Amino acid sequence: MAHIAVIHGPNLNLFGTRETHIYGSVTLEQINQRLHEAVGANHELRITQSNHEGVIIDTIHEARNWANGIVINPGAFTHYSYAIRDAISAVKLPAVEVHLSNIHTRESFRHTSVIVPVCVGQIAGFGWRSYLHGLAALLDHLSEQQ
Ligand code: DQA
Repeated sequence: MAHIAVIHGPNLNLFGTRETHIYGSVTLEQINQRLHEAVGANHELRITQSNHEGVIIDTIHEARNWANGIVINPGAFTHYSYAIRDAISAVKLPAVEVHLSNIHTRESFRHTSVIVPVCVGQIAGFGWRSYLHGLAALLDHLSEQQ
């Protein structure tokens, strides 16, 4: 069994109502439900959301004590939070960055991720399913490490 921290960043609590033409109408609660359904009893998911950079950093630090890997959608922190990047780098847990939208086809400030260089990789543009694909990619990565 793998233990995975799923971390949602700022404004993602508004998924389902926020800019639905970009992010769709699935709520964060529904995404979380679908992730739990996908892994069933095979893997443990601890899912958190925060609008605060420091809380996300604390969550990453705590994951060091129990998790095998991280799935993270850092929201807009993706584009400028060196502190979240350093936290992922510090805990040395494999992380997969996910985005509902394809950040590379949007405004130019979204084209850069300061987080992905310390991640295994990035999945973007598949709507809420980016989380499913990101989780599957992380689990595959972990199984190859064993
Ligand atoms: C996002 C993309 C970010 O650029 C944006 O700031 C978000 C959502 C996504 O999931 O597509 O808040 O991370």
